[in-house]
Amino acid sequence: MVKERDKQRVASEEIYREVQEADEGKTRRAWDRYLDASLGLRDYWYPAFFSQELQDGATRSETICGERIYFKRVKGKVYGIEDRCPHRGVAFSARPECYTTNTTTCWLHGFTFDVRDGKLTTVLTETDSALEGKLHVKTYPTYERYATVFVWIGDGEPVPPEHDMLPTFMRENLIVKPLVRVKIRCNWRMAAENGFDPGHLYGHRNWAWAKRYAAMPLGTQPLDKSDSIVIDTPGKPKGLLVQNRGSTWVNTIKDGDEVAEVYNPALDPTNPPPFEQKLYPDTFGCFLPCGLDVAGFPRPGLYHWEWYVPIDENHHMYTILQGGEGATAEQREEFLREHEEYLSEAIFRPDGMQPEGFNNFDPFGRQEINQSYMREDWWHRERMYKPDYAIIQWRTLVAKHARGIQKWGNWQPKMPDEKWDVVFYTRGNTNSNLPK
Ligand code: FES
Ligand SMILES: [Fe+2]
Repeated sequence: MVKERDKQRVASEEIYREVQEADEGKTRRAWDRYLDASLGLRDYWYPAFFSQELQDGATRSETICGERIYFKRVKGKVYGIEDRCPHRGVAFSARPECYTTNTTTCWLHGFTFDVRDGKLTTVLTETDSALEGKLHVKTYPTYERYATVFVWIGDGEPVPPEHDMLPTFMRENLIVKPLVRVKIRCNWRMAAENGFDPGHLYGHRNWAWAKRYAAMPLGTQPLDKSDSIVIDTPGKPKGLLVQNRGSTWVNTIKDGDEVAEVYNPALDPTNPPPFEQKLYPDTFGCFLPCGLDVAGFPRPGLYHWEWYVPIDENHHMYTILQGGEGATAEQREEFLREHEEYLSEAIFRPDGMQPEGFNNFDPFGRQEINQSYMREDWWHRERMYKPDYAIIQWRTLVAKHARGIQKWGNWQPKMPDEKWDVVFYTRGNTNSNLPK
């Protein structure tokens, strides 16, 4: 027993040393690529939107890693092209026009492109244009799985999509329910770190549905280095599995004579689980480029997936789906009924609705953290503690294994929408140079 505790103390000291080294800047030098990746990682498949958001024949536009992409669904299949007309650069999506099934037409001078290969087929404002068949717009490979449309952000031939899918999202016979896509004012990296941050459970402690599932600890922490397992198998999604086997259930603040006992309201503080009891789910993982895979949340048998899709440096699209076993009609019905009755709301509710879902807390925290990291360089000012060990491993993993780092390149941030500043001249207006 003593031996076991000694082992734990040594393991814990090793972890603490790594955390300190990160603080002193030694590890940080290894994170250069991660710190550079404010626009996301390049050469990856990203979830762009939910299948139900694009009906056959319709179009929509999304900004992913700074690139503006215009999608059209043609006979069931989704095609993506650059949302910028090669003639004068305006966005097709500003006024979508489609005269035929496979084409889209630019609203400004009528250049018409086949969305399947990006080729210019017709110029409506010039008969027999010499450009027809010669000009083309960049195309984006797409992939659709479980109610989600993915797009390849990168150059050249994409890797097989399975290489970038969350591991449990590749399971067969699931029933999947898209829950929410919401634009959050926070860089994608703080969102990804927040997803598995072992100490941030504290902020979730008031979750109204905790009683229904399981009371959570105040926070979790590594007992030894096996708490964070780096997955870097070739041909598989790279990621970090986090096990978090040490939990703080109850803690006490002593303030002179005043003593405050703090714990999750759903917990019986007289009978907290032991420190080493595994928190369910016992493993979950964060995977490149930006997804969280949680098997068994909020109860065993369910799958929970989140992606923090970079839009630009200061925004990500928070994308959440839930899944369950769906091999039989009964399983599918049961899953949908559970969601209808309470599960969707237990996870995420539209802004302001109470009681808030489990995942409403996270964007709240991320928006706060964005200010310090993106504007006040907290990347170099943060003070880490032991539970941040997993975050150190994640940053190191991304810096080492990311295929590429996204840059603005030939894209630029969109200017904020401004109202037209139009002056209407009228006869008799003394400031007008129109004839009176
Ligand atoms: S800008 Fe699109 S046709 Fe001219
Ligand atoms: Fe969270």
